[in-house]
Amino acid sequence: MHLQTVLILSTLFLCDAKLPRFKQHTQPNDLPSTIAQNSQSSRILQTGNKNEKTSRIVDQYRTRHRRESYASNSYESGLIWAHAERLDDNGDVILRWVNTDSTITFRLEARTRGYVALGFNSARNMRGADLVVAWVDDRYGNAQILDCHGLAFDDRAVADEVQNYEMVLGFQNDTHTIVEFRRQLDTCDRQDFVIGEDTTQILWALGPEGSDGELPKHVESGSRPLRLLQPLPKPDTIPLKHWDVKINNLTIPHVMATLFWCKVFKAPELTKKHHIVGYQPLIDSRPIRNGKPVQEKNSLSPVHHMVLYECAEDHDKRQWNEWSESSGFFGPARPGELATCVTPIAAWAMGSKGEFLPENVGIPLGEKGGVSYYMLEVHYDNQALHEVLDSSGIRIHYTPALRAHDAALLGAGVGVSALHVIPPKQNAYRTVGICSPECTNSTMPEDGINIVSVLLHAHGTARKISLKHIRGTEELPRISEENAYDARYQQSRIVPGGRKFFKGDTLITECTYDTTSRDKPILGGYSASQEMCLSFILYYPRTELAGCYSMTPVVEFFETFGVQEFYGLNMMQVENIFLSSGYLENSPTELEAITRDHSAEETAMQGDDQGVGLMKDLVIKEPLEFRNKTFMAHLNEMPWHEPLLTEQIEKTLYRGCHMTFCKKRDDSWGAPIQIQNYPNYTEITSNDASEKSCNYKSVRLHSKTNTTGSSTINKLQSAILAVWIVVIIAR
Ligand SMILES: *[C@@H]1O[C@H](CO)[C@@H](O)[C@H](O)[C@H]1NC(C)=O
Ligand SMILES: *[C@@H]1O[C@H](CO)[C@@H](O)[C@H](O)[C@H]1NC(C)=O
Ligand SMILES: *[C@@H]1O[C@H](CO)[C@@H](O)[C@H](O)[C@H]1NC(C)=O
Ligand SMILES: *[C@@H]1O[C@H](CO)[C@@H](O)[C@H](O)[C@H]1NC(C)=O
Ligand SMILES: *[C@@H]1O[C@H](CO)[C@@H](O)[C@H](O)[C@H]1NC(C)=O
Ligand SMILES: *[C@@H]1O[C@H](CO)[C@@H](O)[C@H](O)[C@H]1NC(C)=O
Repeated sequence: MHLQTVLILSTLFLCDAKLPRFKQHTQPNDLPSTIAQNSQSSRILQTGNKNEKTSRIVDQYRTRHRRESYASNSYESGLIWAHAERLDDNGDVILRWVNTDSTITFRLEARTRGYVALGFNSARNMRGADLVVAWVDDRYGNAQILDCHGLAFDDRAVADEVQNYEMVLGFQNDTHTIVEFRRQLDTCDRQDFVIGEDTTQILWALGPEGSDGELPKHVESGSRPLRLLQPLPKPDTIPLKHWDVKINNLTIPHVMATLFWCKVFKAPELTKKHHIVGYQPLIDSRPIRNGKPVQEKNSLSPVHHMVLYECAEDHDKRQWNEWSESSGFFGPARPGELATCVTPIAAWAMGSKGEFLPENVGIPLGEKGGVSYYMLEVHYDNQALHEVLDSSGIRIHYTPALRAHDAALLGAGVGVSALHVIPPKQNAYRTVGICSPECTNSTMPEDGINIVSVLLHAHGTARKISLKHIRGTEELPRISEENAYDARYQQSRIVPGGRKFFKGDTLITECTYDTTSRDKPILGGYSASQEMCLSFILYYPRTELAGCYSMTPVVEFFETFGVQEFYGLNMMQVENIFLSSGYLENSPTELEAITRDHSAEETAMQGDDQGVGLMKDLVIKEPLEFRNKTFMAHLNEMPWHEPLLTEQIEKTLYRGCHMTFCKKRDDSWGAPIQIQNYPNYTEITSNDASEKSCNYKSVRLHSKTNTTGSSTINKLQSAILAVWIVVIIAR
């Protein structure tokens, strides 16, 4: 244990006032002045033995040398930062990082002359989080770092027993503190967070000015979800062309909580095939204040997600041209032909900066040599009910330099409908969507497809999403997996090394939801307050398959909730309503805010669609105990706190029957709609359980000054360093 080191370090900053003072108020940027240099050197030379003296002089020389060779931004480690993210809205806190297979180095630049603190956690708070606090001493310019953790029971930070963070450098100027530090990805210390593939909540806090000697409560804090180990695609060497598909000055009325707007676009006229290699969001939303659109910094855009679909070929070009010139459609005004736009090309959701495809694949554009049509669907989530003028969309990057493979996106998961029910009061309720072996068998080539990356998509209560791969009766390793899902951050995940997927294999998208804070069941749907469970899979070579979903069959669904009969309609008729009105059979193309007879308030609350209205209209006849209740009322009144009940429902719906849908790019069926049992297979042991090698030894702290402030050691025994409350902005 390195308590000694911790104590020495802690003495330094807790009891700074007791250290000998130097007249010179040294700041790192002043350091090339020889006086400052000498005073610091001499201080260091007073302590330690001869060898240490030598090595410190060498260090001093190196540091000075480095400072001189980088003129203005004098203190640079020379590392190339692979990633850079603003942690706050103003850009006052910027985090850069770069990692190897085992270590990660961070650079934090923050507008403060007090301490800076960074935290890692799977939740958006500091309970049990891994925390690291760093600061630059105002008098001597020494940078210090302390490995801490958040207590499990209240919002305080405590020094770790083993220090696993190593300071690389640190300095401050008149306004900012800049620190660079590194650690192992897995420190094998239970007080540290293992930095892995999952989404990590990055917590940050800034101390008040002059807070170096102690750690008073922060003055500013926040959190941001990020995936730190996400690989970066290489930029193209040939300049890219771009095509902007944007909504044009659409006024979103304040009465509409959920709006699915669809607009048709004509592809750029190209004489030969090009490849789409990436896309970026173009968010342009202006709140309307006193009848005028205004540009407001930090105002949240209602754009929740956008999907660009390729439309099936149609001979009536004149009609499509007309649509492409209109401003767009929603709800019943949408022409039925738009339902043939089923092949997703680009899927953007909140929190994503866009995507660039791996360098061996591209999505074909303009290959037909003529005009083709695309449909952009924008989901506006306007729960705050503002009036907004919107011109958002997607910038599609494409290139004539064709890549090795034609890629395509495949949608899979749970068909979006009200039958995708998630009970309240559950901490880990699972649902699954199956892409059947019949579907993959009839649509995929002999030697299968190669999966490149996956975008996992669900809404606010989803905590885990995984994409499983079944071959015969064996489960293969997960294609993609997220164990700390945060709907605010949706970026697609590269499948390391790719994945070969054969015809006849099965895909299962599994979602786990945490609804402990909910009182009523959540139904599946497109509104942000409803749930989804989808994966968008990028693969090559392109096949005819565009969407592959499943849903609980209607009869089994109502049976599971104890309902045998409704007034007026038998179960087959109910199923037919679901099927014929497109609730079940459609891929996410059928995204629309249906204007029904419900009050504006209700519509605003629920974003009524995908069969929710039907659930409210069906009145139970049998059994007697539920008679005369609507199905929705029955669902709301079920005793959801009974674990036996919800376990049974989960098991029945998960392991029971699934109705599968297999949609091709031309909007025809790749395999007939089928009802099938959950496949029998041997589950793979969870990735978490796999042995990891933990022979790494903790980093020793480089405490630059060796002082023995013995009188203060007892103060440290409490070791509670800071009251650091991270304010969490709930969704
Ligand atoms: C201080 O450092 C920050 C971050 O590197 C930089 O943006 C700012 O311009 C610097 N200020 C001065 C006065 O050098
Ligand atoms: C959208 O409206 C703004 C003013 O409200 C106008 O300046 C702009 O030209 C319009 N854009 C288009 C494409 O019509
Ligand atoms: C797969 O499709 C082939 C025809 O292409 C058929 O002969 C075979 O029985 C199918 N296999 C399964 C498991 O459906
Ligand atoms: C259900 O409603 C019908 C007609 O409205 C009524 O005749 C019947 O008594 C009601 N049954 C129950 C159990 O409330
Ligand atoms: C799985 O096995 C059970 C019992 O062995 C059987 O009843 C069920 O039909 C099987 N399911 C499939 C999809 O083969
Ligand atoms: C610090 O000082 C103590 C005693 O004064 C000594 O035993 C120890 O080795 C020193 N540590 C360092 C890192 O110089």
